[in-house]
Parts: sequence; structure tokens; C-alpha cells
Amino acid sequence: MIRSVVRGVGQALPRKVMKNAEFESLVDTSDEWIVQRTGITQRYIAAEDETTASLGEAAARAALDDAGLSPADIDLIILATSTPNNTFPATAVEIQERLGMRHGFAFDMQAVCSGFVYAVATADTYIRGGMAKRVLVIGSETFSRILDWTDRTTCVLFGDGAGAIVLEAQAGEGTRSDRGILSASLRSDGSHREKLFVDGGPSTTGTVGHLRMEGREVFKHAVGMITDVVEDALAQGGITAEELDWFVPHQANKRIIDASAKKLGIADDKVVVTVHLHGNTSAASVPLALAAAVADGRIKEGDYVLLEAMGGGFTWGAVLLRW
Ligand code: ACO
Repeated sequence: MIRSVVRGVGQALPRKVMKNAEFESLVDTSDEWIVQRTGITQRYIAAEDETTASLGEAAARAALDDAGLSPADIDLIILATSTPNNTFPATAVEIQERLGMRHGFAFDMQAVCSGFVYAVATADTYIRGGMAKRVLVIGSETFSRILDWTDRTTCVLFGDGAGAIVLEAQAGEGTRSDRGILSASLRSDGSHREKLFVDGGPSTTGTVGHLRMEGREVFKHAVGMITDVVEDALAQGGITAEELDWFVPHQANKRIIDASAKKLGIADDKVVVTVHLHGNTSAASVPLALAAAVADGRIKEGDYVLLEAMGGGFTWGAVLLRW
């Protein structure tokens, strides 16, 4: 059978780092509160010339370099984002143009913080269905542009950045020993809309709007939803939580990551954490964490890796793969 194997990984971050202390002059908060409640110490903030497309392009180029491939080798680009450069065309198409690609096809995927996990699962279906041999999957966000910088309950939590992987069709045996994506589990439930949404859009207000979140309500649901999809993906893939080598969760809050890992029975030293450095970068958070753990040599060929995310919608999902 055909498996979607990761050939390369890349990342890109804006030039400017914003430390927690810088918020103390903007809103009534403190470095101590932010670290204690979230684990975040800093985040990256895009300058005017840094956009979802430019960051996505840079991450894509890094992933292609890592794979030893060029844009000519790619059939499909899927960009996970909730902060596109324009309402349309899709920012994925802009990235396609920036990469000098005039072949294949490209589209955006919108599942907020779960976007990258949704995009990886979608790329896998295109590859296994035979419509694409190599897919560039990108998560790129500039959430700083949709934050209400006067709202201390949200503005301290998010950051900008991009991560990307190249997935390639390779032959497998159909067993858990294969490299590549072994299983995926995706869920959504629109009844939770009011807990996490952006109060604007082309068809309602005609504006972009700002992010609104009832953080405590999101927190209450997060751990249960995350553990459900992770257990489903593990069961489908025939892997136990103890057999996992690396857990790469969405980086929203260190407390949510710790509680999820504990409930799943995953040891702390198998959990990849970058939330302290990046904040919550929505669809970019999982590929940024993945890129960090690959770059420093933690994730190695043959490892069982579990990607997981939960976000606005609500949407949530998990992907199990063998590196
Ligand atoms: N600085 C200081 N005090 C603050 C701040 C701040 N930045 N923000 C809120 N507070 C205050 C609140 O006003 C509240 O004060 P009160 O008790 O007087 O009312 C107090 O701190 C506690 O607030 P809580 O909301 O109960 O704090 P909590 O411990 O729940 O932490 C947080 C808040 C960090 C937002 C947490 O709830 C969380 O991480 N939620 C989940 C976020 C998430 O996972 N989102 C999903 C993905 S995002 C996406 O999809 C786009």
C-alpha cells in the first residue's frame, strides 16, 4: 500500500521577539502571571513586511532544502491558516507563485489551531488516492494581526510563525512497521463557536475582526477532546501510548500539554514543548514544535510520533506516523 512519508521539515519565525515583560506597559498583566498560567515566556511578532505568505514561503523553502527537493518536485501545496494574506485568492496559491511553481495545485485549509493536523490528514488522502506524489504541507499564521491588543485575556497568548513538511508517496506493507502516516482522527463540533471565534468576516461585518476567547471554557474541554482523538489514532495505528517515542501537541498552554500527556500515560521526556518560546502560533504550532525536535536530533527515523491539536470551532484531531 501507499504511505505518506515525511521527507523534510522546515520552519520560519519573524525577526522580532516579544518578551512577556513588554506587555506590562500595554495591559494590566505581569511576566509572572503569563508564565504561571501558560508557560509562555516570549513569542515572535511579524513586522509589516512579514506576512503569512512570506513566512509560509520561507518555511516551505526550508522543508524543501531539508528534503533535498525543489518546487518542481511538488504536486500539491496545502496551507493551514486562519490569517490569510487576503480573503482570496488562497494564500497557498500566493506561496505557489513565490516558489515559482506553475504546475500542480494549491489551496488553504481553515481549522484554526487544528489546521496543520487537518492538512496533514488531507494530504495523506490525496497521496493514498493517487492524486499527488509529493505534498508540501504548511502551517503559517500572523495572529498578531487579529489580536485585540487591549484585551489582556488573549493578547498575551499568541504569536506568529510558520512550519512546513514535505510528504512523499512511498510503498509500505500496510503494517505498523511502515514509515509514514499510520492513522488519523479528526473531529469538529460547531456548537462551541462562541467560546473561541473572530468577531468579523467578509460575509458578516465586512471586516477582519478580532479574536475572542473564553479561555476557561476552552481549557475545560481541551484535555478530554485531545485525549479522545489521540486514543483513537493510537488504536487505529495499533500502537500503545507507552510505545510512542514522541508526543508533539498543539502548543497553546503548558498546563493543557502536561494534563493531556498525564491522562494519556505519556512520560514527560517524550513530550515536545516549544510554547515557552513561540506562544500559541495556531496552525503553525505543531510544525514548529516538530521542526525543533527534528533539528536537535530528538526525532529519528523509525520513531513513532503523534501530532495532536485542538482549536476554534471547536476542531480537534491527531495523526500517528512513523518517522
Ligand atoms: N494577566 C493578568 N491577569 C489576567 C490575564 C493576564 N494576561 N488574563 C486574565 N487574567 C485574570 C482574569 O481576569 C481572572 O481574574 P478574576 O479572577 O479577577 O476574574 C484571572 O486572571 C484568572 O483568569 P482565568 O481565565 O480563570 O485564568 P486561567 O487559569 O483559566 O488561564 C488561560 C487563562 C491561559 C487563557 C487558559 O484558560 C487557557 O489556556 N485556555 C485555553 C486556551 C486554548 O487552549 N485555546 C485553544 C487553542 S487557540 C485557537 O484555536 C485559536
